[in-house]
Amino acid sequence: MKIGVFDSGIGGLSVVKSMLEHSLFEEIIYYGDTARVPYGTKDKNTIIRYGIEAIEFFKNFELDLIIVACNTVSAYALNEMRESSKCPIIGVVEAGILACNNSLKNKNSNILIIATKATINSNAYEIGLKNKGFKNLDAKATSLFVPLVEEEIFSGAILNEMFKHYFSDIKQSPDALILGCTHFPLLKDELQSYFGKGTKLIHSGEAIVEQLQSKFKLTLKYKNPKLKFFASENPDALKDIANIWLNIN
Ligand code: DGL
Repeated sequence: MKIGVFDSGIGGLSVVKSMLEHSLFEEIIYYGDTARVPYGTKDKNTIIRYGIEAIEFFKNFELDLIIVACNTVSAYALNEMRESSKCPIIGVVEAGILACNNSLKNKNSNILIIATKATINSNAYEIGLKNKGFKNLDAKATSLFVPLVEEEIFSGAILNEMFKHYFSDIKQSPDALILGCTHFPLLKDELQSYFGKGTKLIHSGEAIVEQLQSKFKLTLKYKNPKLKFFASENPDALKDIANIWLNIN
């Protein structure tokens, strides 16, 4: 299978990393809209327009599937993107909801969703989780984590200050923390130690792998998938980061 992976920037590489760990695909075309990141502070119509433009980009390739590795786009633009695409499209929000449902047996579990402002305002996770029977939900827009990750700052004083800024009113660690932005897995070690081992982290990349394996029954393994990286601005910088994060030589 040849797939396209789309994110507003470099965060979707966290999803590619999970897919590579499971050797699911033969060829992966990654497109990051680095010229226009962040999306999470933009409005619905802009996010939809950017999503449709990404489909136009992917028309240059014969793809079997497009994965929207951006929660913000998944929350707003999937329907419109599907209308303009010939190949199927799946998004990370639905996958995250399914993964949360699979890993939490108790519907009274406390779930904290962190995501961009746009994703939180869409209520996409809350609606999906309520439909699955969960009721103890809290949601926080932690948009500042996005530029931090784009700057490749994954720990240290600035991040600790941001944790204080966003989380100091949280008295009890949640049972599950949904990393509702594909940039956030890059901060997962720090988030895990902030909230403690009792908090289960739900990661878009692992969630999408779980969904792909159950939905498409992918059994073949591709040990040396072909990877191609594209960006709307400074593709070399994206390639350099991909090489480091994904351990590619
Ligand atoms: N990585 C994106 C997401 O999953 C959004 C980051 C941004 O562009 O604001 O929501």
